[in-house]
Amino acid sequence: MNRNYRLDFLNYLRFAAIILIMLFGLLFDPINAAFANTSNNTSNNIYQQKAASSDGIGKIYMGREISQVMGHQGAMWLERPTREAQEQPSKIASALDLKDTDIVADIGAGTGYMSFRIAPRVSDGKVFAVDIQPEMLDVINFYKKETNITNVEPILATPTNPNLPPKSVDLALMVDAYHEFEYPQEVMQGVVKSLKPGGKAVLVEYRGENPFLAIKRLHKMTQKQVKKEMKAVGLTWIETKELLPQQHLMIFEKQVNS
Ligand SMILES: C[S@@+](CC[C@H](N)C(=O)[O-])C[C@H]1O[C@@H](n2cnc3c(N)ncnc32)[C@H](O)[C@@H]1O
Repeated sequence: MNRNYRLDFLNYLRFAAIILIMLFGLLFDPINAAFANTSNNTSNNIYQQKAASSDGIGKIYMGREISQVMGHQGAMWLERPTREAQEQPSKIASALDLKDTDIVADIGAGTGYMSFRIAPRVSDGKVFAVDIQPEMLDVINFYKKETNITNVEPILATPTNPNLPPKSVDLALMVDAYHEFEYPQEVMQGVVKSLKPGGKAVLVEYRGENPFLAIKRLHKMTQKQVKKEMKAVGLTWIETKELLPQQHLMIFEKQVNS
């Protein structure tokens, strides 16, 4: 009888331990946490998922499928010698009307192609060259040594956060990059936080209105779509400069009181 009682008691302890372990697992299990995050992301319906197009990731934001990220293997293409003639990036740098003390963030900087063209225009300021691929930052560090340009500061971002200091940036530039941000709303909220009041966000995107432009479909954007997505993060459209052969240059502003 006594022995049976002890066995019952031991079984009861084992049962209680199993329940405790299960509860602990439910609360702290990382897989569970990941599911919790997924449902957070989808519960506010910012993004939807469908089968991916050939140049997309199947994730839809405000009616647009997000494109694939250009891998660091494409670094040579970004630095191609014909780019100046094709895209006229020096016109982008002049159109930004920068002051020499300005702090610029080049988000999705890649090899720093634009960062190094802008840096001499902000000789008493600096350029944060932001990218999610460490290999791109290696290239930026290489060019820093090669060119002796010291006011370019590489920053490793995450897909959801540009990792910029708050209220520090006069102008955030995104050249041929925004369409491939996997979490565009989160990144742009980070960009807005990093802008000083009255700071500018400038997007340069291939014209999505032109079906004959020989660029993959999801790597182009219409003005209408860009305006809609920037409005969603509280940015005000100021103007679009149509001075580039293939791309829109769209200027947005963070309101002074935001
Ligand atoms: C097509 S390249 C353009 C590079 C550069 N702006 C230029 O014009 O040469 C796009 C870059 O955006 C980067 N990128 C993609 N998603 C990003 C994100 N969430 N935050 C920062 N960079 C990102 C990619 O790693 C890639 O280097």
